[in-house]
Amino acid sequence: MRPRRSVLYVPGDNERAIEKAKTLAADAIIIDLEDSVAPTNKELARQRAVAAIRERGFGSREVVLRVNPIETPWGMADLHAAMGVVPDAILVPKVSHAGDITGTAKVVNAADADPRLRLWAMIETPMGIINAREIAACAPDPDNRLVCFVLGTNDLLKESRARSGSNRFAVVPWLAMTLVAARAYGLDVIDGVYNDFNDDLGFRAECEHGRTLGMDGKTLIHPSQVIPCNEIFSPSEEEIIWARKIIQAFEEPENARKGVITVEGKMVERLHLVMAKRVAAIAQVIAARSQIEEPWF
Ligand code: COA
Ligand code: MG
Repeated sequence: MRPRRSVLYVPGDNERAIEKAKTLAADAIIIDLEDSVAPTNKELARQRAVAAIRERGFGSREVVLRVNPIETPWGMADLHAAMGVVPDAILVPKVSHAGDITGTAKVVNAADADPRLRLWAMIETPMGIINAREIAACAPDPDNRLVCFVLGTNDLLKESRARSGSNRFAVVPWLAMTLVAARAYGLDVIDGVYNDFNDDLGFRAECEHGRTLGMDGKTLIHPSQVIPCNEIFSPSEEEIIWARKIIQAFEEPENARKGVITVEGKMVERLHLVMAKRVAAIAQVIAARSQIEEPWF
């Protein structure tokens, strides 16, 4: 179990930001070669990203490399660079069809890439939303290496001509569709970014919103977003205590054969036990992580 609460984008050509990322409490870092890098800087960004991943200075953070689409002049070189240094995952941008994942996986498998290398998929086009189920359905085949969806809400707003704001009224159906598609096939889902990184209250509200929708975490663009994001996507003290109570209650010998019991006046079923065990497991990983002697906690 890997918490993916805070997933920070860092432009691949920004050496200073890459260094800074090594000191931040983000669960994952996405080193970006795509949208945040100008065409004139693509090669430089690739070189810097490769050097940073090769150095392995990111501690327990997951490291993900976002490549350019395979059909662009940089896509193939990005993929091969990734296979050379083996980040935890390659983030495939603008995934619109299952073939975008199976095609990438074929290239990766043909090159005999390290079996630990995973694929994450950006869901950020209208076609990607329509095909979210077919894309997610790639996951059960281990050859496809797919483990996680990332929402690209800026691209979705651009392509759809919808407006953001108003509690993401226009975007919620797409987020929810993507979420259930992902869950149907056991994938994690990370929410899109909040552009106004000076607006702490607005950011927190959007984190809460994403968590309510079922997101595992949120993609971030600025260091200031990491701590509040971790806070909101971690199980609260109250949730952990409640989870422990449920686990304890089902451990009582008299409840061993019961499907449904009462805990503090509330109906609790075995499905709640499954949820409680997940909360307890995530809380344990987070607690263990915060004890690691790293500058970021
Ligand atoms: N990751 C790590 N460090 C970052 C960072 C990031 N995403 N964004 C900023 N920083 C660092 C800066 O380098 C600076 O470090 P310093 O104290 O060592 O000088 C510090 O945080 C403060 O940065 P600040 O001056 O507030 O921001 P900025 O003007 O340098 O950068 C952005 C603003 C938006 C350009 C920058 O945050 C950014 O590039 N974010 C990521 C964008 C991205 O990847 N988009 C693609 C996906 S949507
Ligand atoms: Mg995008």
